[in-house]
Amino acid sequence: MSHYIRYEDNPHSHRHDRQNLGRMFTYIWEYKGRVLFALLCLIASKLALVGVPFILKQIVDHLDVSGDVVMALPLALLLAYGALRLAGSLFNELRDAVFARVRYRAMRRISTRVFQHLHNLSLRFHLDRHTGNISRDLERGATSVSSILNYMVFNILPTIAEFILVAAILFSQYELRFAIAIFSTVIIYFVFTFMITEWRMHFRHEMNAYDSKANGRAVDALLNYETVKYFNNEKLELQRYDETLYHWEQSAVKSQTSMSLLNFGQGSIIAIGVTMIMVFAGQGVVSGQMSIGDLVLVNALMLQLFIPLGFLGIVYRQLKYALADMDLMFKLLERQGEVQDQADAKPLHVKDGEIEFKNVSFAYQPERPILQELSFSIKPGQKLAVVGPSGAGKSTLARLLFRFYDLNDGEVIIDGQNIATVTQQSLRESIGIVPQDTVLFNDTIYYNIHYARPAATRDEVIKAAELAHIHEFIQSLPDGYDTVVGERGLKLSGGEKQRVAIARVIMKNPKILVFDEATSSLDSHAEKAILKALKEVAENHTTLVIAHRLSTIIDADQILVLEAGKIVEQGTHRELLTSDGLYTHLWQLQQEEQIEQKQTTGKNI
Ligand SMILES: Nc1ncnc2c1ncn2[C@@H]1O[C@H](COP(=O)(O)OP(=O)(O)O)[C@@H](O)[C@H]1O
Ligand SMILES: [Mg+2]
Repeated sequence: MSHYIRYEDNPHSHRHDRQNLGRMFTYIWEYKGRVLFALLCLIASKLALVGVPFILKQIVDHLDVSGDVVMALPLALLLAYGALRLAGSLFNELRDAVFARVRYRAMRRISTRVFQHLHNLSLRFHLDRHTGNISRDLERGATSVSSILNYMVFNILPTIAEFILVAAILFSQYELRFAIAIFSTVIIYFVFTFMITEWRMHFRHEMNAYDSKANGRAVDALLNYETVKYFNNEKLELQRYDETLYHWEQSAVKSQTSMSLLNFGQGSIIAIGVTMIMVFAGQGVVSGQMSIGDLVLVNALMLQLFIPLGFLGIVYRQLKYALADMDLMFKLLERQGEVQDQADAKPLHVKDGEIEFKNVSFAYQPERPILQELSFSIKPGQKLAVVGPSGAGKSTLARLLFRFYDLNDGEVIIDGQNIATVTQQSLRESIGIVPQDTVLFNDTIYYNIHYARPAATRDEVIKAAELAHIHEFIQSLPDGYDTVVGERGLKLSGGEKQRVAIARVIMKNPKILVFDEATSSLDSHAEKAILKALKEVAENHTTLVIAHRLSTIIDADQILVLEAGKIVEQGTHRELLTSDGLYTHLWQLQQEEQIEQKQTTGKNI
């Protein structure tokens, strides 16, 4: 394995094919009846198709009369010949039609299962993975299920059935050497295919890994379109992309050339086998032991058998890839989200909305503690503000309140209930947030606001937009509420996005509110208006405000000054100003800034 690829990317390390197939069959067993009927159709079509050479033999023997006997047209046989062919095709198609529902339903159920699971995995997992890679794994996983079912039902099982039928015929009707010749050809064919395929498999893995990597890079670069332009790095991006594709090309070419080798080898084995059997049959005819019809029958049976066998080589390879993809998908499904509901988790009951952080310590990575023994509480209906330098761990507090991560130590308690003991669903239902970076769905503004409460009416959406002071702006857009916001909401300005987020929280109307620098992207004028709105929203709500501009939190019941994960000061605005600490320092700085701005612009901004 090349050092470019992480070991865990190798799909063939510790695969559990049998378990995986077992799991897959639980998905198709939902349609037992259809599956069984499809199998019956399969057997019927094979019987019909193996019958065809028999009739052919009869016809040939019938017509192969020597001398002066009057030749009669074997009409019944000819009709039977046609009928059998027709039946073969009919049952074949019937099988496909009946099985289609089973196959696509299994695909659909597995896809939704994986999608659901992705939502259960923790934020950490998603931050660590490339979105492009995940969606490809999802797609490949679902396709793998479909292809495995396909190969099973349309290739492997039919070929096995056919092989058994042909073997039975040869054993019962002809000399042993025919059966031996066919068997040994098939066995050599299989062994050869297995060996070569195993050998060339890793070219394919490499190819897949580089393919994913190239895709991840492309998606990442395109998501960062603006950044790439700002820094003029198109060339660099292209170069990195091409570098990965270069490796992909190398493996792809090796994969292809080794496939040609395999195909040629298989073709040679079949050619030798067929020649051998035809020689035997020719000898049989010459010595009078076999009729011309027998020779035709043996030839037809063999061709019938070897044609699908030729495909079986391809199927074997594809099946292995599909199994690898499926394994990747089931491994993903096995992966436990790191934040789990306890077995006896109860729904959170919020009465007053009192929040308490008790000796909370937390680190994203063990080597680097972020929060250290943090303790504070917010009384019901009160407003607690957290201020401090960037990177102090303020947003982390909000993430912990939502339980996106479990604590290393300590407890977060809401109305007397440790949030680790309640269901995540009920916890997140009770809290609303205006996040620091609002990301929107690439859909309409209406959709994005309505998302907070899918049962809401249009009037409620508009009311929320009005309260968030964004209604007028939306109305001024040519498409109004139906304006599509672009990928991640990039067609809106930071302030507009924040106001959509505020409207969303208004729609959700939870007991506990978190504003994470909710007005940092607004100018002072808009900020004032929104602060008023937020104040109305926050009335009678317990509120955690993470603030950038101190002027916005003068009225807070309590202010925490956070620095490097520790509370360095605590109190009301007045109290903190008298203590002459970090808060006073920050306050003076921001005051000066404001005065400066007033002087340069000549107006209050
Ligand atoms: N998912 C993460 N993995 C590792 N470190 C993180 C992660 N998220 C944030 N951090 C780090 O934790 C620290 C606190 O982050 P944050 O709470 O967002 O700060 P802020 O006070 O500016 O809101 C920062 O130094 C940041 O680099
Ligand atoms: Mg932050």
